[in-house]
Amino acid sequence: MRKKTLVITGATKGIGKAIAEKFAQNGVDIAFTYNSNSAVADELVKSWESEYGIKARAYPLNILEPTEFKPLFEAIDKDFSRVDFFVSNAMIYGRPVVGGYGKFMRLKPRGLNNIYTATVNAFVLGSQEAAKRMQKVGGGSIVTMSSTGNLIYIDNYAGHGTNKAAVEAMSRYAAVELGEMGIRVNAVSGGPIDTDALKAFTNYEEVKAETIKRSALDRMGSPEDIAGSVYFLCTPEAGWITGQTIVVDGGTTFR
Ligand SMILES: NC(=O)c1ccc[n+]([C@@H]2O[C@H](COP(=O)([O-])OP(=O)(O)OC[C@H]3O[C@@H](n4cnc5c(N)ncnc54)[C@H](OP(=O)(O)O)[C@@H]3O)[C@@H](O)[C@H]2O)c1
Repeated sequence: MRKKTLVITGATKGIGKAIAEKFAQNGVDIAFTYNSNSAVADELVKSWESEYGIKARAYPLNILEPTEFKPLFEAIDKDFSRVDFFVSNAMIYGRPVVGGYGKFMRLKPRGLNNIYTATVNAFVLGSQEAAKRMQKVGGGSIVTMSSTGNLIYIDNYAGHGTNKAAVEAMSRYAAVELGEMGIRVNAVSGGPIDTDALKAFTNYEEVKAETIKRSALDRMGSPEDIAGSVYFLCTPEAGWITGQTIVVDGGTTFR
């Protein structure tokens, strides 16, 4: 893995940060994006470079603007000689999800469309740019973040849950068509993980308590719980895994 390059969206905090750190610990160079937290991104570049001896660079990206992916990868080309892994992780919250996060009868086209753009379009456009570069180095691995809210009912999660189902399906199509380039494509579907995104849920405390109750392991999930599976999917040990969704949920979905 050493000296390979990971491109990951939304690595300033939460799951994306844990994933990037896991790759950095294993000697992988990191090109990551931020949206609002540029100061945090700068700090992470410094700390990952000094702690793990890798190269790290941060780039601004708004996943609601799909035209930003092409210039993003052109900027990455100037700093890195190769792209081996792409993780589509960033997710919108707050105002852009109004009309998308809520009960079924309150869903509205703008909010739903924003979640589609941030989930499916971002995966497609990011993966297209990444795949062109992976092809040049003989292959690679793409992982999209999904969530178990497309398998079980979560209050107010219809907009996100349906788009996670859609991105999983899209990743299977990508897996079939990118296989001939030596590129594997998979999804990691997380159960509730304690991050700012979960804290934005109106019923955060309830979701947290219910997760601990349902988990076979009697605890809440952490970003590091997800990072290990994403990393594994990018290693040669996962060389025969493509077109799959790995559910990482502490046993919460079945219970
Ligand atoms: N938390 C959970 O329970 C859970 C469970 C399953 C799956 N997931 C999935 O895991 C992924 C990460 O979630 P998380 O909980 O780690 O979220 P998070 O802690 O809220 O982090 C979100 C990340 O996305 C970036 N971002 C926000 N708005 C953006 C925009 N418009 N354009 C580009 N980037 C933007 C943020 O950057 P800035 O900080 O720079 O603004 C941040 O790095 C998401 O795909 C989510 O659906 C989460």
